[in-house]
Amino acid sequence: MTHTLVYPITSLHNSAGHLEIDGCDVVDLAAVFGTPLLVYEEETIRDQCRRYMAAFREHTDDFEVIYASKAFSSVAVDQLVMEEGLSIDVSSGGEYHMARVAGFPAERIFFHGNNKTREELEYALCGGVGSVVVDSFQELALLEEIVAGRGGSQRILLRITPGVEAHTHSFIETGQVDSKFGFGLADGVALEAIREALAAPHLDLVGLHAHIGSQIFKLDAFRRAIGILVKLIGQAHAGFGFECRCLNVGGGLGIRYTVEDAPSSIGDYATVKVEGVREEMAAMGLPMPRVLIEPGRSIVGKAGITAYTVGTIKEIPRVRTYVSVDGGMSDNIRPMLYDAQYLGMLANKADEPADTKVTVAGKHCESGDILIRDAVIQRPEPGDILVMPATGAYCFAMASNYNGSPRPAVVLVRQGQARVIIERETYADLVAKHRPLRD
Ligand code: LLP
Repeated sequence: MTHTLVYPITSLHNSAGHLEIDGCDVVDLAAVFGTPLLVYEEETIRDQCRRYMAAFREHTDDFEVIYASKAFSSVAVDQLVMEEGLSIDVSSGGEYHMARVAGFPAERIFFHGNNKTREELEYALCGGVGSVVVDSFQELALLEEIVAGRGGSQRILLRITPGVEAHTHSFIETGQVDSKFGFGLADGVALEAIREALAAPHLDLVGLHAHIGSQIFKLDAFRRAIGILVKLIGQAHAGFGFECRCLNVGGGLGIRYTVEDAPSSIGDYATVKVEGVREEMAAMGLPMPRVLIEPGRSIVGKAGITAYTVGTIKEIPRVRTYVSVDGGMSDNIRPMLYDAQYLGMLANKADEPADTKVTVAGKHCESGDILIRDAVIQRPEPGDILVMPATGAYCFAMASNYNGSPRPAVVLVRQGQARVIIERETYADLVAKHRPLRD
């Protein structure tokens, strides 16, 4: 049984006994497009966008769902989320560029980053970027200088680090005191940043932002962060008349990678975020701001699967069996970087019993290049198509050319049709920017 809790929502086993996603047989996709192959199901992405929009609409008319494109930045998916009415968060000039090529209206773009360069800021401002989320005093000064030079005014938010621990992997926790991101609360730093932003003649401080981490299951940390942010808003209001029109409470909702994972629902997440802001603002006697959220993983994570071809199988008696596939850490660094757990299955043997314990290894020259330790899958043979579900977020986005690996192709499937949205890199691409030692 393929769990649609973890796999894209239309996944099923077809009459050939293969894994099928929205009418596309994954074994056929692998044959046509090659492997490793990233397959996104359009329906799951749209469904997640709609769930977010509907859940927030239940609580307020004044909200904005902003896709954190770092999870998977591509022209086609940027277009898809745009069609669903989302705004977009970009964390670099490059992601900004992709969103613009996708046709995203500049005013719906939020520009993030703890070290935006002058060139990146100028590029985004030149295109009319909607909001810049300012991360440091240097950036505040730089932005004021650039905007003053160009004329006009720029909408900004300030990124606040609320000092909240988020119960997730420390590499993806961002709201704690000891963080490279944003303005901390200690020693009045955040308050001072608000004061300076309000005093900057060419900057329009519309609100605050906080993102406390990613792959978060329990909602209490979000609620605590909101309490802390609103207390700061109250102080800044009392101190220098700050009016918070927008409160961006970040992304971070976790998803299921395995059947045991138990993330909160989008509905509960929306309740905590909107009602949390409402309660805290009311307690402070302040008007309700627009509530902004920035989900990334939970928009695209479940929509994507990766298909590999099984190659070498090495059985070490009484130890383990290594099943090597034609990708690995170059297309999914998450198991190595975060100890991320994934499921696996053989798409061409979907109906056969999953009764064989193996370790799925990548093809790279490192012992640590392991995709799944102790996966229980159907009996593997060379040539089988091994699928890992829930690889839609932060896999292709963090892919590399390690060991001279061309990055995989990405296809989007919908109602029996598959469309290439990112071409597979070629060997020629690998050397396209290289120049020889001598002419
Ligand atoms: N907003 C900001 C400012 C962020 O830094 C992030 C993620 C998000 C929103 C979206 O968070 P999400 O809804 O996706 O949890 N590479 C790591 C995840 C890094 C997250 C970085 N920031 C991973 O593979 O788990």
